[in-house]
Amino acid sequence: MLNNLAQQPADALLALIKLYDADPRADKIDLGVGVYRTADGGTPVFACIKAAEQKLVDEQPTKAYLGPEGDMGFVHALMPHVFGGEDPSLGGRIDGMQTPGGTGAVRLAIAVAKRAGVTRVIMGTPSWPNHAQIMDDCGVELVSFPHAAADGSANLDALEAALKAAGPSDAVLLHGCCHNPTGIDYTPEQWDRIVDLLAETGVLPIVDLAYQGLGAGMDEDAYGARAVVARLPEALVAYSCDKNFGLYRDRVGALYVLTASADETVKALSNGHTLARASWSMPPDHGAAAVRLALADPDLTKMWLDELTSMRARINQVRQKLAASSNAGAVNLTPLGRQQGMFAMLPLSKEQIQALRDDHGIYMAGSGRINVAGLTMDNIDKFVGALAAVSG
Ligand code: LMR
Repeated sequence: MLNNLAQQPADALLALIKLYDADPRADKIDLGVGVYRTADGGTPVFACIKAAEQKLVDEQPTKAYLGPEGDMGFVHALMPHVFGGEDPSLGGRIDGMQTPGGTGAVRLAIAVAKRAGVTRVIMGTPSWPNHAQIMDDCGVELVSFPHAAADGSANLDALEAALKAAGPSDAVLLHGCCHNPTGIDYTPEQWDRIVDLLAETGVLPIVDLAYQGLGAGMDEDAYGARAVVARLPEALVAYSCDKNFGLYRDRVGALYVLTASADETVKALSNGHTLARASWSMPPDHGAAAVRLALADPDLTKMWLDELTSMRARINQVRQKLAASSNAGAVNLTPLGRQQGMFAMLPLSKEQIQALRDDHGIYMAGSGRINVAGLTMDNIDKFVGALAAVSG
């Protein structure tokens, strides 16, 4: 039976990690998977997380099972940061559950939407490759439209046309901030327009908020998610703490559900619980418990927000330096100065991407996406020089 299975290719982005690790060149540059790096090229555990983990070791009374909803203290502690306002739950209309990372949250969002009757999900492309893969595996159809306009801003006309052509069983997946892979985010005015369109068309929004705090600021990055929940009757918000708490391999995420009433939200979330039970049963505890402890302590919360501020500043410093370089051959880096978050797409051919890897030890996704945070003030010149060398 099992010999019927065809060999599947390794995930291209995750495979890059191993290729990079195996490269012996001392001056290699990793612009592949979306992991934040400091000016020294490291990805240290956040100081606030180290402190919270220490508390956890000292004080955690048990590791007995929780339920499929995971650590609800974690889920609720995040809500003021995600949704803001006096009452981030909007009178109980918003509640959530813990998921294994942002991927678990997106997966569950799509699966819950499907249970509610969604058959198609509208999404701007290019997008994070796993989005399409998750939709395919969940058995919903992807309806795509071009995310970027020719001038490098978000293509609102294309989104508008897709929403206006939508049917009653359609949802739309929107990146909350730090668009992966293009770095092209919606402006607040564009979000307001999108929410108008969602209100008009009734299309169910699924907001993937995986990089809050790494774009323009905690509040600024949540503008879209907050506008959606403030004005619409229903939404799903998939949240990741993998990047903004540096918890990558601990897999820390949450799915938030907004419905028209607290009772409906309880009902909708019970479907999330059932689906979780049937797949991962319950999410891994450790990272979420550390986030809960960090957010329960004002000093650790301040440490976290300060750390995010310095990460954001470094990303923006690298972006500005790239945008100011006029010597990257045929590659125009100027738009990177206007974009946000860790990612940008460079218009490079497969051959050019391969030459960057083979000849210069520079690793990036096959789509031309770079992780801007993989660059430092010391290696930008080498990177720009290599772009010039491969693109002429
Ligand atoms: C990325 O896009 O690099 C990250 O979201 C990591 C991942 O899981 O793909």
